[in-house]
Amino acid sequence: LPSHFKLPSGDRIPSVALGKHAVVLHRCFLTYRRMLEVRDGQGRGSGQTLKAGYRHIDGAWIYRNEEEIGQALKESGVPREELWLTSKLWNTFHEPADIEPALDDTLKKLGTDYLDLYLIHWPLAQKNGQPYNKTLTEDPYPTWQKLEELVAKGKLRNIGVSNFNVRRLQNLTANPLKIQPAVNQVEISYWVPQPALLDYSKKHSLLLEAYSPLGGDGKVGDTLRLPVVTKIASQLGITPAQVIISWSVQRGTVVLPKSVTPSRIVENLQVQALPQALFDELEEAATSHEPYPRLNPSKGWGLDFDIFDGDD
Ligand code: A2P
Repeated sequence: LPSHFKLPSGDRIPSVALGKHAVVLHRCFLTYRRMLEVRDGQGRGSGQTLKAGYRHIDGAWIYRNEEEIGQALKESGVPREELWLTSKLWNTFHEPADIEPALDDTLKKLGTDYLDLYLIHWPLAQKNGQPYNKTLTEDPYPTWQKLEELVAKGKLRNIGVSNFNVRRLQNLTANPLKIQPAVNQVEISYWVPQPALLDYSKKHSLLLEAYSPLGGDGKVGDTLRLPVVTKIASQLGITPAQVIISWSVQRGTVVLPKSVTPSRIVENLQVQALPQALFDELEEAATSHEPYPRLNPSKGWGLDFDIFDGDD
């Protein structure tokens, strides 16, 4: 399995690799939830996560914990160049004039002067208390141009999007971009395997990052009890979670599993290539049922459209 994926900029984003030592030292996925729960619920301090070997911090301005992450990074003593820091531009800051101040706030809180990756968090431009900005939502080119400027300025190394379906990606890439989106972070799991988006992304050198890869909090039990998953797990002598995480990397996606359980955090970094026949069997099972997406905030946000509509 690839130990990293190479982005168009030449940067190597940590993936999950074969090889336990490399895994513990370099492969790292951390989510806001883990960071919060470890800090607040279990009192171990988020530096613990870095001690476990996590180096890839998947954050966002809206998670409202960038200050704590910054503190944990500082306490950990891990050199900045060993870290992969991702953050995300919130919906309220899509207007070009609002972007740099939002990024500066993130940088200040994290205690760094650049991000490895900055994503447009959702394909939705909406200031607090206002109707959404339809023009900027449909065509986020002005937002993107500002991000390109911030790359030129050295504050961002790579830029991408999150929660974009093919239609929304195309709305963006129809413009004369100087920098193509490097990453699209979306929900991908056994339940929502997104084969069409994956196919499209591979054709366009766009890396997908899988959030909720185990199915998310409510569904993880169902995922790990799937007969196809438990069968592969027992055949290979690995855990069901490792089967799913390995499959995700093998499909060519960065995977962002989350756990607050120390033993699982270590377990989740340890992946291996599935034999082709078993990989195919899991891929077939995952892509032959109706997709069951877990997260769709369109209604909750009072939108008169579905954020994921329009691919058909
Ligand atoms: P916990 O945090 O209690 O360890 P997802 O990454 O898809 O959002 O799923 C997160 C859920 O999966 C959490 O409930 C987490 O539980 C659980 N989980 C994470 N890793 C494992 C694992 N290796 N085995 C079993 N459950 C896991």
